[in-house]
Amino acid sequence: MTMLLTGGSGRLGLELQKLLKGIIAPEREELDVRSEISIKNNILLYKPELIVHAAAYTDVASAETNKEDCWQSNVVGTRNIVLAAQKYKIPLLYISTDYVFYGDIGNYKEDDPLGPVRNYYSLSKLVAEEIVKTLDDYLIIRTSFRPSEWAYPKAFYDLYTSQDYVDIIAPEIALAIKNYDKIAHKIIHIAKERKSAYELAKRRRKDVLRASKTELELDLPEDISLNIDRWERIKGELK
Ligand SMILES: NC(=O)c1ccc[n+]([C@@H]2O[C@H](COP(=O)([O-])OP(=O)(O)OC[C@H]3O[C@@H](n4cnc5c(N)ncnc54)[C@H](OP(=O)(O)O)[C@@H]3O)[C@@H](O)[C@H]2O)c1
Repeated sequence: MTMLLTGGSGRLGLELQKLLKGIIAPEREELDVRSEISIKNNILLYKPELIVHAAAYTDVASAETNKEDCWQSNVVGTRNIVLAAQKYKIPLLYISTDYVFYGDIGNYKEDDPLGPVRNYYSLSKLVAEEIVKTLDDYLIIRTSFRPSEWAYPKAFYDLYTSQDYVDIIAPEIALAIKNYDKIAHKIIHIAKERKSAYELAKRRRKDVLRASKTELELDLPEDISLNIDRWERIKGELK
């Protein structure tokens, strides 16, 4: 299957390219999702049978001051991709985030109500999801991942998550991409078991120190974990 990936130079995009040989991943200079014409040109050139849309403005902190940039890439960009997918009748797999949930109670299921969001990045991803849902043929993957190493000296013991390192999450997302046509659901959560950010950090950085999220002024969730039962069931059926 010919697949076109947006955001190929990103953390997830680079891992996906290692796992999905032959996936076409143009640089942003060639495929800027803010430009309808560049999307059209890439579709006409590569004739993809599936679009994997992973490009996004992902800097949560800077999105608060660069709202327009974030909106243009995440919302307008996704709208452009959706319009092209509709026009050329190409299925769309959209990479979304656990941050579409508020993050107080955790164990969020695919059909739980979204929001309220805590920051502008989350708002842009939530709006983008709703645009994707206007298509007939789509799959939204809500996920969460970290770079392969824990980059900070501290980690929060009071922030719960089901995220994991990108080299652990990407193979699962690649499996879903490969089996796109076998997945009957429209939304799936791809993550790992619930744990504190400190527990996660400790796995790859032995000297990491425990810290409380109250040390930061940012509004961080208490428990943003995703329920992954649906994906575990699907995986079992795929094997
Ligand atoms: N990181 C996380 O914890 C996390 C959690 C949940 C969901 N996600 C989602 O997963 C996806 C990938 O995230 P990531 O962490 O791998 O992102 P990343 O490392 O920040 O990379 C972002 C990618 O998007 C591209 N991009 C940004 N704006 C673009 C535009 N206007 N047109 C074309 N390409 C554009 C970037 O290209 P350049 O290299 O040219 O800038 C880069 O390839 C995103 O949709 C993100 O929202 C991430």
